[in-house]
Amino acid sequence: MLVAVFSLAGAPGVTTLSLALASTWPAAESVWMVEADASGGDVAAWWRLPVWPGLVDLAAASRSGQDHEAVDTTACSQVLPGGLRVCVAPPTAERTVGAVGLLAHNPKALTGEEVTVVDLGRLTPDSSALALLEAADTAVLVASGDVAQLKRVKEAVPGLTGRSAHLGLAVVDPTRSSSEVSDAVDLPVWARVPQDARTAAFLRGQGEVRRPHRRPLLRQARALGRTLAEHARTAAPPDPTVARFLGEAP
Ligand SMILES: Nc1ncnc2c1ncn2[C@@H]1O[C@H](COP(=O)(O)OP(=O)(O)OP(=O)(O)O)[C@@H](O)[C@H]1O
Ligand SMILES: [Mg+2]
Repeated sequence: MLVAVFSLAGAPGVTTLSLALASTWPAAESVWMVEADASGGDVAAWWRLPVWPGLVDLAAASRSGQDHEAVDTTACSQVLPGGLRVCVAPPTAERTVGAVGLLAHNPKALTGEEVTVVDLGRLTPDSSALALLEAADTAVLVASGDVAQLKRVKEAVPGLTGRSAHLGLAVVDPTRSSSEVSDAVDLPVWARVPQDARTAAFLRGQGEVRRPHRRPLLRQARALGRTLAEHARTAAPPDPTVARFLGEAP
């Protein structure tokens, strides 16, 4: 399952939410977080990791082999102290944009058996990462709840819904109710992301928090993960044996 997380403007917390979502994913499947933000990554700097193995290796691996061959994702990732597997991007656009372009042509590396939470960063109409949005099973648009951002979201929605199979909004620090926001932008609100500076710092590798699973940001991320996992479960094609039994398949 491929879950894309992205924004349209500002820095509303895409990388932070991607890390939170991957580290609290509710189902038993193996999960990893991939930084495919063409403007460059932050996770390696946050956690003082080398940039390899990472996105450049993943992009190279996705290009080689046959379409049906699975990419060895562990060879392209590193493990954070808490246990989350991450595929980090180089810090600059110069070094990242080519890798994102390659992956966009070969998204099979992201669409294997595991759950991949991919940070697409800030999307623009000419982003190569748009192809990754199209490859995703579900996409979370992160936006702050201010009027200017929501206006931007509203204008972008018609173009985005054509590219995304299942699209919803994570509103950061909203001042209005979810139904008001949803009516205003014509997208479901899947998460209300609270301001939670301590947990955001924790996810940047700065400081500890006691009982992380009780922190507001991680609780919201977990609830969002449950919504997405449940959708994937109900949207999955029926077991062919059952479908045949019911006369729904040849
Ligand atoms: N819910 C939150 N509460 C408090 N601080 C947050 C929250 N989410 C993110 N932050 C902080 O805001 C800053 C920007 O977050 P982040 O890097 O995740 O945004 P982004 O959308 O990925 O930005 P960019 O487009 O530059 O990659 C970081 O310092 C992060 O720790
Ligand atoms: Mg980011």
